Amino acid sequence: PRITFIEPDGTVRTVEAAHDESAMQAAKRNGIDGIIGECGGSCICATCHCHVDQAWLTRVGPAGDIEADVLEFEATDVRPESRLACQIPITDALAGLVLHVVGRSR
Ligand code: FES
Repeated sequence: PRITFIEPDGTVRTVEAAHDESAMQAAKRNGIDGIIGECGGSCICATCHCHVDQAWLTRVGPAGDIEADVLEFEATDVRPESRLACQIPITDALAGLVLHVVGRSR
């Protein structure tokens, strides 16, 4: 499935994600700016923080409990549409997904 990242400087990049890889893995594989993925997808570091595009909020759904805690304590510019990209598995249902990269917080 193809998904689109808006990098922190506004660059729009569409990449092909493998089935069931996380949005963070797809970003890393394609060198998306701002996605560091320091913890390797363990939902600890928040260096994969993205704002889900408004049009996709319902389909992506809200952060889980642990993820919400990590966002609260580790991320900046946290909004209702904040998600950790490593916690978003890409499926066909998310083809066309748009994520605005926030990336490393501090
Ligand atoms: Fe560390 Fe997502 S890669 S929280």
